[in-house]
This record gives sequence, structure tokens and C-alpha cells, in this order.
Amino acid sequence: MTSRFDSPKAIITGRGCRAQSADLLASLHAQRTLIVSDPFFASSEFLGEMRTTLAAKGIAVELFTEFQPDPTDQNVLAGAERFSRFGADSILAIGGGSALDVAKMVGVAAANPGPVSQFQGYHRVSNPGPPLVAVPTTAGTGSEATKVAVITDTSRNVKMMILDAKLMPTVAMVDYELTFSMPKPLTAHVGVDALTHGIEAYVSRKANPLTDPVALSCITKIHENLSAAWSDPGNEKAREAMSLAALQGGLAFTNSSVCLVHGMSRPLGVVFHLPHGLSNSVLLPTVTSFSWPGAAVRYAEIAREMRIVADKSSDELACESLAEWLARLNNDLQVPRLRECCAGDVEKFRASLHKMASDALESGSPQNNPIVPAPDQIVELFELAW
Ligand SMILES: NC(=O)c1ccc[n+]([C@@H]2O[C@H](COP(=O)([O-])OP(=O)(O)OC[C@H]3O[C@@H](n4cnc5c(N)ncnc54)[C@H](O)[C@@H]3O)[C@@H](O)[C@H]2O)c1
Ligand SMILES: [Fe+2]
Repeated sequence: MTSRFDSPKAIITGRGCRAQSADLLASLHAQRTLIVSDPFFASSEFLGEMRTTLAAKGIAVELFTEFQPDPTDQNVLAGAERFSRFGADSILAIGGGSALDVAKMVGVAAANPGPVSQFQGYHRVSNPGPPLVAVPTTAGTGSEATKVAVITDTSRNVKMMILDAKLMPTVAMVDYELTFSMPKPLTAHVGVDALTHGIEAYVSRKANPLTDPVALSCITKIHENLSAAWSDPGNEKAREAMSLAALQGGLAFTNSSVCLVHGMSRPLGVVFHLPHGLSNSVLLPTVTSFSWPGAAVRYAEIAREMRIVADKSSDELACESLAEWLARLNNDLQVPRLRECCAGDVEKFRASLHKMASDALESGSPQNNPIVPAPDQIVELFELAW
């Protein structure tokens, strides 16, 4: 089997590294930069500082903040229109996965006229977008180092997975100082999303020798640091480790794949308007219990690497311990049960089950899972997670 590993041209990490963004954009010959910023940071001091340093380098700036969490095709088209009207030649994206994904697709939409749905699926982008510097403010999606964007098609009410090497940011700047402001639930949900990236990348049928160590390092960092970042939001060591883990999770899954958790989480998120991290978190323990018999050796390696079982423990014990630990983690981080996320609306849940199952399969992600489920098994898994 051959494999390919894509990454940004440069990955810059460390507290305060965002200060290098103006120099970086200048080195990419930027003269007019569209800043795609999470609305949470639009009027923040640090964004003001970044704008000042860009101006000092002679780079003109336009700010675009009009998009929602779990962004839509309409958000992308509005951003592309702003990009073209301003005559931008580069993009600086600052925010969570939503800001980064919008920024990726704004660049692509500006370079390729037509509906955003034309890019859904694999390798459907013709012209690359402009240089993109991606600065994450959550420690979750790893979008700063992935060739993926997730955009909702508002006409079909479907979360589109768009994968193309042309979506890889030119530069990722991972400055963990920007994550200190995350409230506890966000820290938990995006942290478990990153953990899901590590686990799914490692057990995927597309796992390969270059993604394996990156995925394992992501998983062990999260095992050692997520609870500390959650209970003590100012914990510098834990925040730094979580930002690096999220970056590694992105690099791992984008060069391997995500699997069944992500396949099921996207339709669930659309139907019940759940944020991406939360919809993954509520599914991860249940889907792990279902999937491990298909790749017991791999799941057991994860558990041993995390040191939640002894090196000599059986694969079966290791896999069961991993699934139990994941359920306990959700409990400790106060991740609600699925039924609480859906406000107990069991009728809507039941009525949506079959469509959610077929949308999950259609996304292609479950086909990378150690056990590829039939539609009825996906329905059962949703019910078990309820
Ligand atoms: N491109 C990829 O590879 C990839 C991978 C996984 C998920 N995603 C997508 O990313 C999106 C989710 O991104 P996310 O989980 O990072 O959340 P997000 O970007 O949707 O942000 C969630 C909320 O947190 C706020 N926020 C962001 N940073 C903050 C901070 N430092 N302090 C306080 N509040 C902050 C935002 O304003 C928003 O209200 C989804 O659309 C998902 O499908 C993309
Ligand atoms: Fe994810």
C-alpha cells in the first residue's frame, strides 16, 4: 500500500508565536489580506495588535466575521464576495475550526466560481485558493493542519465533507495562549474531538506508518492533559499540550482518515444543531465498544500506550479498559448524554434515525472503520448512545 503525507509548508508553535504573522504574510508576498476572524475575537486586544503589525508592514487589511459556528455555504459565499471586492491576495484565519474552515473555502470559492456543493467529497477543487495562514483558538479540530473543510449545504441540510490537498493551509501558527479563554464545556468537547481524531486515525483502515506515531502522541497528550485543562483553565502546561495534541490529531487524521464516530456525528449535528465536538464526544465511547473487536490489536496498543493497562494485559482487557476510560472521561468532563443534548426529544430522534444512518454511510467515513456497520447497526448505535 502506498501513502501520502500532506502538511502545511511551516508549522509554528509556542506562546506568542502569533506575533510572527505579519512577517510570514509579507514573506508570502501578501499586500492585501482578508482576516477571517471568529466573532469572539473580533474586538479583542490581540486581534488589534495583529492588525497593527500588519499595517506596519504595509499590508492592507479587511475583516470578515460574518459566519456561524459549524458554518454554511452561504457564509462561504459571503466571505468570497468580500475577498473579491477587497481585492485580497491572502487570508489570515483566526478562530476555531469554523473560522478556519470558512477561511479555507472562502479562498477556494473566490478562485472557483459556482456553488460550494461542487466541492463536496474528495479532490474536487480545481484552482487553489490564495496563501492562507491559520491560527487556531480552540484545541480541537486541527483544521490548521488538515486538507479538510466541513461546510453545511443549507439547501439539502447536509454537512459536506470537502477534502482536497489544496485546502491545506500554507502556514499553521499554533499559539496556545489563545485557548486560555475557552470555557469548560468548549474545552471538553473540542478536546474529545481531538482525541477522536487520534483514535480514529490510528484504527482506520487508512492508517500508515507515518500517521501512527503522530496519532499515538496526540492520544497520550490528551490522556495526560485534557482533565487538567478542563479543571484548571489557566494551566499553561496542559493548554500547551492540548494545542499540540489537536495539531497532531489533525495531521494524523488528514493523512489517515476519520471513521465511524465522525460519520455518525455529522448527521446528528445537523438534525439536533449540536456543535461538532459535542456530537463526537457523545458517540465516542459507544462506537469504540462496537468497533474494537474489528481491530483489537490496534485499540489495545492505544490502551497500553496510555498506560491504563499493564503491558502484559490481554488485548481484550486492554480494549475494554479503553472503552470504559472513554466513558469515565465524558463523565468527569460533564459531557451530557445524547438524550440531554437532544432535549429528550425522543420522537424527533426516532424519526431521524434511518436518515441519519444513511447520511452517515454516504459520507464515506464509516467505510474506514475497523468494522463497517450495516445501516441497522448504525441505528442501534445511535440508540445505545441515547
Ligand atoms: N477542517 C477540519 O479538519 C475539521 C475537523 C474537525 C471539525 N471541523 C469543523 O470545525 C468546526 C468546529 O470547530 P471548533 O470545535 O473549533 O469550534 P468553533 O470554531 O465552531 O467554535 C465554537 C465556539 O467557540 C467560540 N470560540 C472559539 N475559540 C474560542 C476561545 N479561545 N475562547 C472562547 N470561545 C472561543 C466560537 O466563537 C464559537 O462560538 C465544525 O464545523 C466542524 O465540523 C473541521
Ligand atoms: Fe472532528
